[in-house]
Amino acid sequence: MEVVILPTPHDCGRVVADIFTAVVSGRAAGERLAIGLATGSSPLLAYRELVRRHREDGLSFAGVHAFLLDEYVGLPAGHPETYREVIRRELTDLLDMAENDVHGPDGTDPDPLEAAVDYEDLLREDGPVAVQVLGIGANGHIGFNEPGSSLSSVTRVKTLTEQTRQDNGRFFGGPDGVPRHVITQGLGTIGRAGHLVLTASGPGKAAAVAAAVEGPLTASCPASVLQLHPHATVVVDEAAAAGLERADYYRYTLQHKLPNQPH
Ligand code: F6R
Repeated sequence: MEVVILPTPHDCGRVVADIFTAVVSGRAAGERLAIGLATGSSPLLAYRELVRRHREDGLSFAGVHAFLLDEYVGLPAGHPETYREVIRRELTDLLDMAENDVHGPDGTDPDPLEAAVDYEDLLREDGPVAVQVLGIGANGHIGFNEPGSSLSSVTRVKTLTEQTRQDNGRFFGGPDGVPRHVITQGLGTIGRAGHLVLTASGPGKAAAVAAAVEGPLTASCPASVLQLHPHATVVVDEAAAAGLERADYYRYTLQHKLPNQPH
């Protein structure tokens, strides 16, 4: 796992955008490419940078398929806080991406268990995702794989912890407005992506980042599953890196990357 520690969240956003830019601009004509998107605050600066590059540098996403990590269960279609709407607002509507090329679990399906199976099937048929951006919850979740999630889980319905409902209450006028259930890609599903890029900023993420990167591989910290992945990059600002014991080594490694050694 490569750990990239940078001074500010804006620096992190640029590096995550660089990774996506390389994959998107490097696709061959007619090549099918799938990218994996997260919602929440963590990837927002990267998304803004990608939109800027699309507008100013002509970076094109035409024909690229995007897959969301997760979705709330039970919000009506078009609700502004469905992850489908959030990702449209923050990213995909601002790029040259066709609406039909953006995929996510169907949280409006009256049978969410079946909708989860359908989404896993779609990912198996249309995947794998080449590069997946991830945020991390203060409790170590990725996607909505809350602590205790099987490290080889597939897409399924999960019940949110009270901490996650508290954390996300800011979008719903308080924790009581946050749906209790979600459909999320499993840890095994996420692990099928070619490159995992986890990004975090701020002191509230420091303990979770330290547990994920340097703690034991355990379902108690779902993000620790990145330790098993052959190509995982953790991009964090100084505040989110504050709990890392090997921070000096990660900085040294970054300073001494070989010319053209990619993330
Ligand atoms: C969102 C997701 C979650 C968030 C995590 C961090 O699609 O899967 O795992 O990435 O809850 O949220 P923020 O970035 O808002 O701190």
